[in-house]
Amino acid sequence: MSENLHVFETPYDTAHAVAEIILAKAKANQKLSLPLNIAVSGGSTPKILFTILANDYAESIPWHFVRLFWVDERCVPPTHPESNFGMTYESLLKHLPIHDANIFRMQGENDPEKEAERYRKILKNELPQKNDLPQFDIILLGMGDDGHTASIFPNQMELLQSSYTVSIGIHPVSKQKRITLTGKTINQAADVIFLITGESKADVLRQILKREPTFDTFPAAFIHSNSSIAEFYIDKQASSEL
Ligand code: 6PG
Repeated sequence: MSENLHVFETPYDTAHAVAEIILAKAKANQKLSLPLNIAVSGGSTPKILFTILANDYAESIPWHFVRLFWVDERCVPPTHPESNFGMTYESLLKHLPIHDANIFRMQGENDPEKEAERYRKILKNELPQKNDLPQFDIILLGMGDDGHTASIFPNQMELLQSSYTVSIGIHPVSKQKRITLTGKTINQAADVIFLITGESKADVLRQILKREPTFDTFPAAFIHSNSSIAEFYIDKQASSEL
């Protein structure tokens, strides 16, 4: 199995392995007196990770060095049950000493175009720039069973190449608008980590990882890190067709 693929028994074990990566990178940056700039996704799998971080890593991770951004956000208020920020706040942020100044929320309640523009400016002002692009230390991604990642859906592949660092995705079924990092921003990150669990992801994951003829119909297939390939942290169920 390729070196960028890490398979674990359960979703909990998979998320725990990612938590250990965040711990190691936060400590490494702390030694260099550097912040850890991390962008997180929404969804059920990141929620497992956030709960682990809140329960088991509140003391060990130097949270005052962590600056938190979002990969994407549904265009709803933060109190809405579908809000990625709302989920992150309930499962992680309200349990940790992260200063408000280090939390860069995508404001889903705002006009989408205005919010995308506002967030572009935040990334330009708050992150190191490399090749004229904002560079995150870590970007945590999920993958939908349709192969979407962030809020880049198969019918909006152009967002992978967008000249904007932040743009607007539209869910193909619900037509819900979402603020999303674009492919160029994601692929600029020092480390890109997919956290993927569940049987429902196995078919698409096989097509992507085995480069089957259909692989390039899925946005997740076009994701890599600035200097390498993306890391896949997956559970046994998601790996069942590999
Ligand atoms: C979102 C996420 C999205 C998510 C995938 C996987 O806002 O919905 O950013 O890209 O990561 O849909 O979600 P699950 O982990 O819940 O399967």
